[in-house]
Amino acid sequence: MTRIAIILGSTRPKRNGPQVARWVLEAASARTDAEFELIDLRDHPLPHLDEAVAPMFGPSVNEHTRAWAERIAPFDGYVIVTPEYNYSVPGVLKNALDHLFAEWGNKAVGFVSYGAGGGIRAVEHLRSICTALGMADVGRQVVVSVLTDFENYTVFTPRERHAADLTAMLDQLVTWSAALAPVRAPIAVG
Ligand SMILES: Cc1cc2nc3c(=O)[nH]c(=O)nc-3n(C[C@H](O)[C@H](O)[C@H](O)COP(=O)(O)O)c2cc1C
Repeated sequence: MTRIAIILGSTRPKRNGPQVARWVLEAASARTDAEFELIDLRDHPLPHLDEAVAPMFGPSVNEHTRAWAERIAPFDGYVIVTPEYNYSVPGVLKNALDHLFAEWGNKAVGFVSYGAGGGIRAVEHLRSICTALGMADVGRQVVVSVLTDFENYTVFTPRERHAADLTAMLDQLVTWSAALAPVRAPIAVG
């Protein structure tokens, strides 16, 4: 069975992210073509990248990096749920992506973004980052507005049409995640 991780990319107190990530998980869990699991970056605190060797050039040494690699490696694809901070990606999410390399490679990734402007600029940056990591980013995406999909900017009340966008993105993501399986060499964590 194809395994997809839903990565929640914000960690600040009183964040909106969990409501969006849970909505994604709930819809995804009704599917029968893949298994889905939520990974909250709050549960995987990492320092600013502190490996002596860049992840693409050598195995990680530090315990926190190895634990993060073991959490990420088993999945075939990822949904990244991200807010937009200052026209880009939250630093904590960029740092978590930077910590690994082989574990992301030849896997598919899809995006659900939210923000005052829907988070589109964060996703554009994420597409470049994920290309550098050797990932295949699916074109369909979900764009949620903090202004019109949240009551009082805090209670998630997604407009009807987002459900169809989510289904379309997940359809493409699951298909690509499965299609890339033969391409992937076994990943040695470490
Ligand atoms: C530091 C910071 C910068 C932000 N910059 C943007 C931005 O550039 N564009 C945007 O659409 N929303 C921006 N916002 C609004 C956030 O997208 C919105 O508050 C969202 O709920 C943040 O996600 P979180 O609650 O999960 O942390 C910013 C919020 C913060 C905290």
